[in-house]
Order: sequence, then structure tokens, then C-alpha cells
Amino acid sequence: MADQVQGLDVAAFRSALAQFPSGVTIVTTRGADGTPYGFTASSFAALSLDPPLILVCLDQGADCFPAFVAAEQFVVNIVTPGHATLAMKFATKGENKFAHGSFEPDENGHPVLPDAAAVIRCELEEAVPGGDHVILIGRVHDARIGGSRPVTWYRGNFLHLGESVA
Ligand SMILES: Cc1cc2nc3c(=O)[nH]c(=O)nc-3n(C[C@H](O)[C@H](O)[C@H](O)COP(=O)(O)O)c2cc1C
Repeated sequence: MADQVQGLDVAAFRSALAQFPSGVTIVTTRGADGTPYGFTASSFAALSLDPPLILVCLDQGADCFPAFVAAEQFVVNIVTPGHATLAMKFATKGENKFAHGSFEPDENGHPVLPDAAAVIRCELEEAVPGGDHVILIGRVHDARIGGSRPVTWYRGNFLHLGESVA
């Protein structure tokens, strides 16, 4: 990648972004033929309560990109410290991703992690272009929480949630 994009130092931009801790999700869907697809994403965010909308940003260069923009539904699995290795598998191109993890199909055949910190199931409302990514907007039709706390992603590391400061 170039050192500069539109006059901006790319390394400085990346470093600044890395100063923002996030949760980690494994986002999944299935193709029309039933093939499962998934990728690890930290770009998940709440968008709206009424209607209930969430978003996640997907790189247009991802192998799973065509499957997600054509999908009717997708699932956001918010992962735990115990899923760190699995999350790295789902961040690796060419990996046989669903050979790992204890996914179970929901009633529509979309892969769900039953031991996730939370599972949010959506209809794909819209796929909005955003630079080299697309913003997948999901209309939530089901949300549930699991028994474990979520993992945190910060400067390239998976961390346990920190202590309360106030
Ligand atoms: C912690 C973490 C967070 C990530 N977040 C995103 C993200 O929000 N959006 C994205 O497109 N890729 C993200 N990635 C990279 C993708 O998971 C990775 O490129 C994935 O292999 C893309 O799917 P593909 O294998 O179908 O190409 C992230 C990777 C890691 C390790």
C-alpha cells in the first residue's frame, strides 16, 4: 500500500485507528447453495433502535464479499476470549474456516456460535458503498446474549475486558 493516501500518512492513520479498542465479531452468512461464509470484523456498531439496525463494514476485496452483498440474512457473533484463535482463522484468506469452531445452523441454515457472548441475526437491509469497504446494514430480527463476557481487540491483541474506572 502507498505511504500516503490523499496527502495522509497511512501509517499514522492506522496507528490512530488502533488507539480505538473494539469488540470482535465473526460475521456469517450462507450462499444460495448452502455454502457458509464468514469473516472476522471489529467494525460492528449499533446503528438504530427503532427500527433495530446494526452495521458492519466489509472490505470489497474480501473473498466473501460477493456472498455477503447477495445475502438475504447474516449473523453477527460477538466473540469471547475463548474464540481468539477462531477469530484469527476467520481473518485468514483461503482458510477452511468452518472446519474450526462449534457453529450450529439456525433455522435458515446460517452459522451461529452457540457460545458467543451475543448473537445478533439480521436481514440485509442495505449494502452501502464506503470507500474500499461496503457498509452492511442489518435489520435485526433476533438478538440473544450468552453466558461469557466479550473479548476486546486493541493494537493487534485480544484482551480481557479492563477494570471499571468510574
Ligand atoms: C480483529 C480483526 C478485525 C477485523 N475487522 C475487519 C472488518 O471490520 N472488516 C473487514 O472487512 N475485515 C476485517 N478484518 C479482516 C478480515 O477478517 C479478513 O481480511 C478476512 O479474511 C476477509 O474475508 P475473506 O477471507 O473472505 O477474504 C479483521 C481482522 C481482524 C484480525
